[in-house]
Amino acid sequence: MQTINRLDLLRDRIAALRTAKGSVALVPTMGALHAGHMKLVEAAQNRGGGVIVSIFVNPTQFGPNEDLDAYPRTLERDSEMLRAHGVDLLWAPTAATVYPPGFSTSIHMKGLSDLQCGAARPGHFNGVALVVAKLFNQVAPDRAFFGEKDFQQLAVIRQMASDLDFALEIIGVPIVRDADGLALSSRNAYLTADERKAALTLPNALKNAAAKIAKGADIAATLSSAVEEILAAGFVSVDYFSLVDAATLEPITQIQDRPARLLAAARIGKTRLIDNLSI
Ligand code: PAF
Repeated sequence: MQTINRLDLLRDRIAALRTAKGSVALVPTMGALHAGHMKLVEAAQNRGGGVIVSIFVNPTQFGPNEDLDAYPRTLERDSEMLRAHGVDLLWAPTAATVYPPGFSTSIHMKGLSDLQCGAARPGHFNGVALVVAKLFNQVAPDRAFFGEKDFQQLAVIRQMASDLDFALEIIGVPIVRDADGLALSSRNAYLTADERKAALTLPNALKNAAAKIAKGADIAATLSSAVEEILAAGFVSVDYFSLVDAATLEPITQIQDRPARLLAAARIGKTRLIDNLSI
């Protein structure tokens, strides 16, 4: 596996990889890799062709009071994991390569990106859309893989790719959970031992709510008792706990004949966790 941080070299290596393997897939990440990222890599490898992983902690998707500086940066360890998994190329650009002096373009999305996490983190999805659009242009992949833990992010990226005519396939990969059910996330590294125990209330509340809704329980009452359950476990706040249409992410008040999803985000200590469950 080669690690590349210059765009001209990246383009050369991708051209060679495409000739050798017929197609290329991209797995965009911000590093601090865990088993969830490795599932994305495996999903990409199972589809065939060359596999490129990008690692870039993207400043434009962090708000002014968010964890950009504290975000775990573990490039050496990450690159060992990727090498051991047989990844072909690691694209690890610097901030100056992605956003050189004078950079002045932005993407402004609306609709999907204003709901849930977009309401709690204004501008976040504009930053995600911008960096993912840049990665798509840099790598020109045939396929790109994203985790369903960031369910709204996946929907926003699909929308951006369709709006901007990116001709690639975007593939969502199911959430990977620890043995006890907590969704894997690079931010789990921030949790103290007590917070880690209490954090389990989030996936449990989703499971309980899904089971109640499946049995026909009142939806508004189910969602508000889930919020109470999460707060009682020691979470500081709940940004949202919503039942939404899985395609539009608009909140729904009853189950229809279309896929629905429970989405949740809550803060424990200084850590913001998100999770979701298909209904
Ligand atoms: O999900 C992430 O790790 C990031 O939001 C992404 C998609 C790599 C863009 O920076």
